[in-house]
Amino acid sequence: MEDNNFFTKLEKAVRESCQIENTLFEKFDVKRGLRNSDGTGVLVGLTNIGDVVGYEKEDGKVVAIPGKLFYRGIDIEDITMGFQKENRHGFYETVYLLLTGHLPTKDELMEFSEHMASLRSLPDDFVKDMILSMKGKDVLNILARSVLGLYTLDDKPDNISLDNMIKQSLNIIAKFPTIVAYSYQALRHLYKGKTLSIRHPQPNLSPSENFLYLIKGESKGYSKLEADLLDLMLVLHAEHGGGNNSTFTMRVTSSSETDIYSAVTSAIGSLKGPLHGGANVRVLEMMENMKINVKDWTSEEEVKEYLLKILNKKANDFSGKIYGIGHAVYTISDPRAAILKAKARELAIEKGRLEEFELYSLVERITPEVFRVFKGEKSTKVVCINIDFYSGFVYTCLDISKELYTPLFAIARVSGWCAHRIEELTFSAKRIIRPAFKNVYGRKEYTPINKR
Ligand SMILES: CC(C)(COP(=O)(O)OP(=O)(O)OC[C@H]1O[C@@H](n2cnc3c(N)ncnc32)[C@H](O)[C@@H]1OP(=O)(O)O)[C@@H](O)C(=O)NCCC(=O)NCCS
Repeated sequence: MEDNNFFTKLEKAVRESCQIENTLFEKFDVKRGLRNSDGTGVLVGLTNIGDVVGYEKEDGKVVAIPGKLFYRGIDIEDITMGFQKENRHGFYETVYLLLTGHLPTKDELMEFSEHMASLRSLPDDFVKDMILSMKGKDVLNILARSVLGLYTLDDKPDNISLDNMIKQSLNIIAKFPTIVAYSYQALRHLYKGKTLSIRHPQPNLSPSENFLYLIKGESKGYSKLEADLLDLMLVLHAEHGGGNNSTFTMRVTSSSETDIYSAVTSAIGSLKGPLHGGANVRVLEMMENMKINVKDWTSEEEVKEYLLKILNKKANDFSGKIYGIGHAVYTISDPRAAILKAKARELAIEKGRLEEFELYSLVERITPEVFRVFKGEKSTKVVCINIDFYSGFVYTCLDISKELYTPLFAIARVSGWCAHRIEELTFSAKRIIRPAFKNVYGRKEYTPINKR
């Protein structure tokens, strides 16, 4: 009881100390969330890596256009079509492209893949001390502390010369899947009563095959379509420009010239949030809730009604958010979601889950209009599904557990983070990122303790 009072008192004071009048943001022309008044992002940097295109500006006005994503100038649709047509996996090719700026030749890719595969293993003591001994219920949290642990295994952890940064990046990118898989195994063992399976990474397998092997083993196995899809997921999640929350975090942290382990850990923390990488789990939970509350999954009216309830904070998690919908840059479409949707359908047919897929499809089709009507004339915001909309569904079809959705995002995005860190610390006009905050609290006198 006393505890409650203690915190209630503190909470009241803290809440009051956080009040800032909405009008002050306009008065001082503060770009909330680093966003301009028309919703577009404030320009804060230049990059050669990813390019996210979701609108055009005509006479100063935002015009919605179909979304496009480029990795080092190459359209993501061409990249994914390219390796899929050649019937091979594309993640290491993508990592190479992001880091070096060009597509590898056959020999370069083979050399690169072999090097990456040779880095997958973790020292036994590290697995025991960092992953198995200290219990953890969240894979991303275990991943973050393990990344900090890698600092102690590095004999030059603070060295930011280019060659050292490249070495460190490859080592981290190669080890991420192993850390995630082992963390998941530890968590299943400790909290779900499952057998602890710590398998050795297989250098002859592609990154997605190796990951599926680490979490499922040979007995449960995985199909070619499943490994292909996971590879596609990794490629689609690898990079998204410098402005997304975790990559920007990576750039901000790196700009202070701190070590790569600290910077990657900060980016993981950002990715974990439900408005960023954590959204894929929320989509699945929302759809599960919808499946229970909507009787006829084919009824446009019933689904519309449910979506309106969500927007009115009367359904699902009462946040007012339809997860998997909306994006800071994309308007009419997210190209990654479109690529994923086509594959998700194939998978749904293979798994006998077409009915469920059709429900997702219906939500995708009607939400933009439901949102437009809900927001009314004043809002010019155009929303579409984002990549997280179908990713949870795909993972359930792959029999991959919820605990792994956002960690899988991290396994992919760490390649983009590393490319951005290297760029941040290598371009010639570099400066520490340090914006300004205006204090609007005013001044107060210091009062001696016996006069308060
Ligand atoms: C992605 C996201 C964070 C972008 O947010 P943002 O750029 O700050 O918001 P926007 O400027 O796009 O949105 C403008 C308005 O639309 C609302 N909006 C945007 N997406 C929404 C959604 N999915 N559900 C409900 N309302 C939404 C915002 O709340 C805001 O309303 P307000 O003006 O009344 O405050 C946001 O769309 C969102 O929360 N989506 C759901 C979570 C998600 O899927 N995240 C994964 C991103 S890849």
